[in-house]
Amino acid sequence: MSTDKPAERWYKDAVIYELHVRAFHDGKGDGVGDFVGLTRKLDYLQDLGVSALWLLPFYPSPLRDDGYDISDYFDVHPSYGTLSEFKRFLREAHRRGLKVITELVLNHTSDQHALFQRARRAPPGSRERDFYVWSDSPSKYAEARVIFKDFESSNWTWDPVAKAYYWHRFYSHQPDLNFDNPAVLRHLLKAVDFWLGLGVDGLRLDAIPYLFEREGSSCENLPETHAFLKELRRHVDARFKDRMLLAEANQWPEDAAAYFGSGDECHMAFHFPIMPRLFSALHMEDCFPIVDILKQTPALPDALQWALFLRNHDELTLEMVTDEERDYMYRVYAMDPRARINLGIRRRLAPLLGNHRRKIELINGLLFSLPGTPVLYYGDEIGMGDNIYLGDRNGVRTPMQWSADRNGGFSQADAARLYAPVNADSVYGYQGLNVEAQEQQPCSLLNWMRQLVAARRRHDTFGRGSTEFLDADNRRVLAYFRHGADDDILVVANLSQKAQAVELALGRYAGIQPVEIVGGTLFPRIGVGPYALSFGPYGFYWFSLGCGRRPPAWRNPEVQVPFLPKGTSPESPGLPA
Ligand code: GLC
Repeated sequence: MSTDKPAERWYKDAVIYELHVRAFHDGKGDGVGDFVGLTRKLDYLQDLGVSALWLLPFYPSPLRDDGYDISDYFDVHPSYGTLSEFKRFLREAHRRGLKVITELVLNHTSDQHALFQRARRAPPGSRERDFYVWSDSPSKYAEARVIFKDFESSNWTWDPVAKAYYWHRFYSHQPDLNFDNPAVLRHLLKAVDFWLGLGVDGLRLDAIPYLFEREGSSCENLPETHAFLKELRRHVDARFKDRMLLAEANQWPEDAAAYFGSGDECHMAFHFPIMPRLFSALHMEDCFPIVDILKQTPALPDALQWALFLRNHDELTLEMVTDEERDYMYRVYAMDPRARINLGIRRRLAPLLGNHRRKIELINGLLFSLPGTPVLYYGDEIGMGDNIYLGDRNGVRTPMQWSADRNGGFSQADAARLYAPVNADSVYGYQGLNVEAQEQQPCSLLNWMRQLVAARRRHDTFGRGSTEFLDADNRRVLAYFRHGADDDILVVANLSQKAQAVELALGRYAGIQPVEIVGGTLFPRIGVGPYALSFGPYGFYWFSLGCGRRPPAWRNPEVQVPFLPKGTSPESPGLPA
């Protein structure tokens, strides 16, 4: 069980839950979520079974990019509470065994940050001016792409105060810091020490590929960036224990893997390219996109880990796919042009999958069993919908739906005061779709997710094992082993809307009786010949092959199946003694 796992490398066994304080729960009744509200909801997160919380930026900010435009690295945005309320939240999270990961936005600040206001007024060439990247002409670094292409036409913006152009890879109100200036590094390291000193367990390094600029390059993934990361890692290791750095590098697997360095940069990195391929594999009913991208993914040493996700606070990015794949994804997942933004799709998980319960279960079954640590986006555990009529990516950032009460139980404020409207449509509206209702239904998505999270956390092999794909002789079925120290797990998934059958060559496990992990059901013994399996539409199995090494702890019939709501009894445990 997770409780006796070693403290170091906790991120290998983690299930991460991503949330925005503003969207989670409003404890003070002013229409905006805050740390008081979040602290009250920690029991819910503990019951869900997740082990780490990733908090989106909660620092002082004009909030023109949902807080990624920071104006002060050392405080809490007054709408979300005070520093002492943050500290109390952190204590309470730790008391429940939950790790806390926060954002370190290195690449840029808000144009309202005092450093930028000082820089634009300082004489050219001065130390103050040099905190940011300036030019007399907007033609420098012409090979760098524009990322927010729906909003910006250039990476340079003219500043009438400085009488010069400043460089920005994102919105023009987010000037890039100048990493060639050692004073910038010192300022950011102070922020690192501040938050890690308070006890934060991990930092997500936002937009990490873009720190440096060099003429004649794409200004991404430059060697200088990796040198900087090594220095950051040395700094953290010298001062703190068991902390984790997570790279946000939306890159192909090989370039993303470079953010691990040789174990001396980040501990984790998001695997961006696998995400759209999970969706296309599901729509094509073909395992190829998944197998193909994982075969291009370098195997990692023990201390390192991929972070896997289905949806997050941004658009479903289609940067790391081919042009044909992008066209396909737009055609099948975003026919309505309003669902598109930049190079991606601004939708939540449930609407993307047509609110198809089996598809939602299957894709989570993959997320939780493929090599890496799964990251769940708040609200997706209850199948929340989105609102593509809100601007930017705000449609996937609406208030958490807690109950059928006013404002979905999110806030006591007048509806008009809410930072964003609660979803009230006829399919995903809070009146029917909310935590309280799903807690009362044994078969709800929420209870199913609790069961999945618990099953994953009982098996270290998911987070730590190696991966081997099997040829299932049927491209609609994806099959892979996860080989761990104490167990081998076989995952078999039907990607198709129709029933399927496969015969698998499992001869090397002859004599073993597979146990289906989520329900605890025994399956027929494996023989030397092909092992036949059949599935309903979108069905999947996680089998423990035990390997006779050590019976897994959960085979003990005394262990209570943890997911059922109070007052119901398990339908079919019958776990073998
Ligand atoms: C990252 C964030 C995104 C933000 C951008 C600029 O990509 O995920 O939300 O807009 O950085 O800070």
